[in-house]
Order: sequence, then structure tokens, then C-alpha cells
Amino acid sequence: MIDMHCHIVPFTDDGAVDNDASLEMGKLAMELGYTDIICTSHYIIHDIENDYSEYRDNVEKLNKLFEENGITVKLHPGNEIFFTNDIVNLVKDKKVSSLNDTKYVLVEFPLFNNTLPMNAYDEFNALQDAGYTPILAHPERYDFVSKGVECLIPLVESGVLLQANMGSINGKYGKHAQKNIKKMLKLNMVHFFGTDSHNTSVYEMQEKALKKVKKIIKDDELIEKIFVENPQKVLNNEKISIWYPKSK
Ligand SMILES: [Fe+2]
Repeated sequence: MIDMHCHIVPFTDDGAVDNDASLEMGKLAMELGYTDIICTSHYIIHDIENDYSEYRDNVEKLNKLFEENGITVKLHPGNEIFFTNDIVNLVKDKKVSSLNDTKYVLVEFPLFNNTLPMNAYDEFNALQDAGYTPILAHPERYDFVSKGVECLIPLVESGVLLQANMGSINGKYGKHAQKNIKKMLKLNMVHFFGTDSHNTSVYEMQEKALKKVKKIIKDDELIEKIFVENPQKVLNNEKISIWYPKSK
């Protein structure tokens, strides 16, 4: 299993606070059956702008530390890019890492805006024109989705993939996100789950969350796609065939 959204690199963002915290997260991930984690530290213009090379060195250092401590989970570079102008050039100019240096790029929107960012489609189109596939992080958490998760359908139809957070189904981010994720699962609007772990808490609630997801989806093939096949395709830079929401 692959965790494609995780803030496990220490001293980088609001995730793991030190090496011990990263080791604790890695150990728990391994026990849960994760083989790979894509490190998706925040990249926020004018706020968290980690140096590209230094960040990737830190991912490698953490890989070594894991090996020394018997943690078999393999770490890969990536970023969670806070929505901004010209994302495509941030990727091309190697300011940020796509997911495991593939054509998949993880983008997050501001949480509390009540509309989609005005230039969202322009930015995503520019990425797509350059051969990248945008993945929107935790759509269920955004305020603008309170209008109804159906407002995300045009995004999916334009080729944006949706990555939900495991914690949302357990209510970690409140009733709003929990309600949205349930609806998204019913409408078949989730292409991946990530943990978005900043510490061990989501891993600790993982089994409970998985049970809840399975109760809603009830389709083993789809579960396998969301939790295993699609993240593996991201890691391998393979094409993912998009499925469209049921309400369409
Ligand atoms: Fe995140």
C-alpha cells in the first residue's frame, strides 16, 4: 500500500517535528502495511518555500534513517503545492517536486474560500497542456464544497483527479468534511485516499476509517483501485483512467 500524501519529512513544514516523530510515523505506517510513502511537504509561496535540492536530500536522509531503524517503508519526494499562479513553471523550474518526479502534481486550495479559485481552470489547463495531471488534495475539506460536492464534477470532467483524506471519514476535520466525503464516496468521486499525516494520529485511526469507507463503497474492485492500483500508478507514472461521478 502507498501513502501518497504525508508530511513525514522533519523540520520542513507543520508535519513531523523531529527525526523521532518521523520514525514513529514510519514504524506505524509499516505496521499498517504501507510499503511506500510519497513525502508531500507543503510548498506555499512566500511562506514555506523549501529549497528543492535540500528538501530532496532530507527525503534521502530520512530513507537512510528508516533503513538504520529497520523501517522498510520507502520514501519518495513530492510536494503539496498551495494553489498559486504559474504552478506549471514551479514544477518545470524545479522549485517543487511532482509526486515521485512523475507527471502527477498534488495541489491544495485555500480551505476557507467560498468559491473555487478564479483561475483554477487556467492553472490546471496549463499543467495538463504541459503533460501533467493535477490531483486536488482533500476536496471534501474546502468551504466552497458546502454548496454540494457536485460542484466538483466539472473539475473531474476536466481531468483533475481527487484525493480524499482518511481522517475525513472519521470526522477529524469536522462534520462538514465528513458529510462531504460520504457523499463523494456515494457518487464515486474519489480517485485516491491519502492520510495527510502530520503525526501518527491518522495512522492510529486508519483501520476504523477503512471500515467506514468499505461500508459505503461495498465494491472490492473499486476499493482496490482507490487504495492500491491508483496510488501505484502514480508512483510508477502510469496513466489512470478517470471514472466519472455517478450523478452524471
Ligand atoms: Fe497535506
